[in-house]
Amino acid sequence: MTVPARILVVFGTRPEAIKLFPLIHALKGHPAFECVLCVSAQHRQMLDQVLEIAGIVPDHDLDVMQPDQTLDALTANLLTGLGKVMDAVKPHRVVVQGDTATAMTGALAAYYRKIPVDHVEAGLRSHNIYHPWPEEVNRKIIGGIASLHFAPTATAAAALIRENVDPARVHVTGNTVIDALHWVSARIQAQPALASGLAEIEARFAGKRIIGVTSHRRENFGEGMEGIASAIRQIAARPDVAVIFPVHLNPNVRKVMNAKLAGLDNVALIEPLDYPHFARLLNIAEIMLTDSGGVQEEAPALGKPVLVMRETTERPEGVEAGTARLVGTEAAAIVTELSTLLDDSSAYEAMARAHNPFGDGHSAARIVELLAHEIGIEA
Ligand code: UD1
Ligand code: UDP
Repeated sequence: MTVPARILVVFGTRPEAIKLFPLIHALKGHPAFECVLCVSAQHRQMLDQVLEIAGIVPDHDLDVMQPDQTLDALTANLLTGLGKVMDAVKPHRVVVQGDTATAMTGALAAYYRKIPVDHVEAGLRSHNIYHPWPEEVNRKIIGGIASLHFAPTATAAAALIRENVDPARVHVTGNTVIDALHWVSARIQAQPALASGLAEIEARFAGKRIIGVTSHRRENFGEGMEGIASAIRQIAARPDVAVIFPVHLNPNVRKVMNAKLAGLDNVALIEPLDYPHFARLLNIAEIMLTDSGGVQEEAPALGKPVLVMRETTERPEGVEAGTARLVGTEAAAIVTELSTLLDDSSAYEAMARAHNPFGDGHSAARIVELLAHEIGIEA
């Protein structure tokens, strides 16, 4: 392998950017690698928020996002766009993260060119192709293509090995989201103004118990979103509770939440927060209520009870550790679980313990070392 090896890192959404910036920082600081960045911009504003705080300037930007994009049009645009970038850049290896349409098409475009693909956050499985949809199939496709599989946990590594992936190609690295969380916490400590933008809402809700909410899953559109909104409406009727809900820019989320929750005294529906402000929300919240993947990893790391509005999870480690609980999307079930946590301090204390099943904050360094080994460079 020619040194430096040219690594093309492909990503497009907010969570991919958050989970890849620690690796990008590490790759850029290593002389064995030339790190070229291609963003699909499957997300636009929510991706740019992360690029800005992480100080990352992409080399290629496909700018593919369309309002309310369909999976087919998005996938087709990504595949052709990413293929053209690969033909121009001619990378030695391609890195993708997670299970988005960008990650899946990035892996496929690389495979079509016989370029090895390395998968960050490999091996997550819910074993239900419609929960989460379409991510479960996206990551299985990537798993069938990848050269190196960077599994965040031993459970994820075992899932790959059960699928007959060569164990020598599977490495447990931890999840880079913990690296990202440590990085942003240190930035906030050094510069508190980075996360001071919630001060007005914090003052408005002083003395109340904060529930932080996020929701965006495609399989929850329609009935699921209605159930979530109804649960928030009911719990926010309590005078001791306040809900802070940065609403995802997907119009299928916004129309329901705006219709059901706008103007309620105890609910702040706000724009998506940049990462330092979301870290602040994680810190001030007593409980997180979410259908997000990343938040299921961050909340346990901070010892915040997290109620997961899904039927299944590909991240069982938080549930096993006791910090996360699956509650589905039916309003009555969500309200019951929230009320228990609010009213039964022993139930709350049993969940509110910091666990770090997802990593120690050194995952990016581990991945860079494994990539260096792969190209024949030893530390
Ligand atoms: C995508 C990923 C999902 C991931 C989620 C993280 C796929 C199929 N889905 O879902 O795995 O968990 O991102 O948030 O890859 N929008 C904006 N501005 C933005 C972002 C989104 O306006 O910055 C709106 C647009 O109307 C866009 C829509 O949201 O069409 C949907 O975006 P898309 O990336 O297709 O789906 P997500 O639900 O965000
Ligand atoms: N996040 C953020 N601002 C927000 C909501 C979430 O920075 O307003 C971060 C959160 O900390 C986590 C990531 O976005 O790291 C999760 O992204 P999302 O829920 O969109 O996607 P998923 O993880 O479900 O794929």
